Amino acid sequence: MEFSERVLSMSPSGTLKLVELANQLKLKGHRIISFAVGEPDFTTPQTVIEAAYEAAKNGKTHYTPPLGIRELREKIAEKYQRENHVNVSAENVMVTPAKMAIFMAVAGFVDPGDEVLIPDPGWVSYKEMVHFARGKPVGYRLDEEKDYSLDIDDLLGKINSKTKMIIINSPSNPTGTVFSQDDIKAIRDIVLDYNLVLVSDEIYEKIIYEGEHISPGIYEELLGNLIIVNGFSKSHAMTGWRIGYLIAPKDIINQLSKIQQHTISCAPSIAQYGVLRALEDKESVKRMVEEFTRRREFVYNSLKEIDGLDVMKPRGTFYVFPRYKYPIPSGELAEKILMEKHIALTPGSAFGKYGEYHFRLSFASSMENLEEGISRLRDFFSSLS
Ligand SMILES: Cc1ncc(COP(=O)(O)O)c(C=O)c1O
Repeated sequence: MEFSERVLSMSPSGTLKLVELANQLKLKGHRIISFAVGEPDFTTPQTVIEAAYEAAKNGKTHYTPPLGIRELREKIAEKYQRENHVNVSAENVMVTPAKMAIFMAVAGFVDPGDEVLIPDPGWVSYKEMVHFARGKPVGYRLDEEKDYSLDIDDLLGKINSKTKMIIINSPSNPTGTVFSQDDIKAIRDIVLDYNLVLVSDEIYEKIIYEGEHISPGIYEELLGNLIIVNGFSKSHAMTGWRIGYLIAPKDIINQLSKIQQHTISCAPSIAQYGVLRALEDKESVKRMVEEFTRRREFVYNSLKEIDGLDVMKPRGTFYVFPRYKYPIPSGELAEKILMEKHIALTPGSAFGKYGEYHFRLSFASSMENLEEGISRLRDFFSSLS
């Protein structure tokens, strides 16, 4: 019995070993503070939970159309028109988990040997999805010296006849950077010059403190090449509901929806009704971002006082991505911090070559945990210097 090359080419989560170690420590009775999680620590707004509950009681428990319920697709299109100034209609929307949306985009366009440009540092799953399609992920550098903005020369140098797709992610996991309009314009020009497929992962759109989220979809001439991915996991603390969406031209929707039809059929029905309510709930998002803003100030101010750390203040997301000056690979460092201080962090190397000598700290954790955890980190780094 042999596994497929596809599945063998994928790596498990880079942090699996740390998760196992953390579990062993927990079994021994130690209290582990985790800053490794990529999800808001809040519960989904009650109004959303109630809307889903009502829908379930009213029998909305069946398959929905593969592209999602019509009303939701309309509301998502309206949202993109109104808030993001992207000229799309319900026909351009497919409701699906955000991760599945990216997977479908990759599976729908990448043939074996095709190259996909992915951000480095960048989210861990892009690379593995490209591997699954038997394509080649090629990291393009985000320039740390310039707040992780685009390094256009590096990007251009990586384009060749096999390049098929580029994935961008702003606000960005793990760096917390937000692309400027100049960055987005540069991407637009490159995509059009080389006729690439552009996947814009906008999942952290609402978690933004400085600057403004600009979707490349504002450029009408780009719409034929563009797949926008967004969702409710981060904005409405709904990671477990598995609802996001993909916005693309009709011909792309037609092709990619075949993957949805023959795999998950549709996004969860009850959750789709909950999300209809979430789209109206601006208050909960605002409150959550206010709390993240408070934590961001605390985390940034405390970490920048630690000798040996170089910290950029994130402009979006709930992550900070400090560089440390010690010559210890980030996997080893994270393990040492976990064993000695019982703090779980994500090693920077999980996010690509340029992520090495960094760690990602998620401040989607209570203020109490952050105070205690950062104090332990201070002790840890002072013992190294
Ligand atoms: C950059 C990025 N894109 C996409 C996703 C996937 O989102 P979802 O859980 O809604 O599928 C995540 C989740 O961590 C993410 O960090």
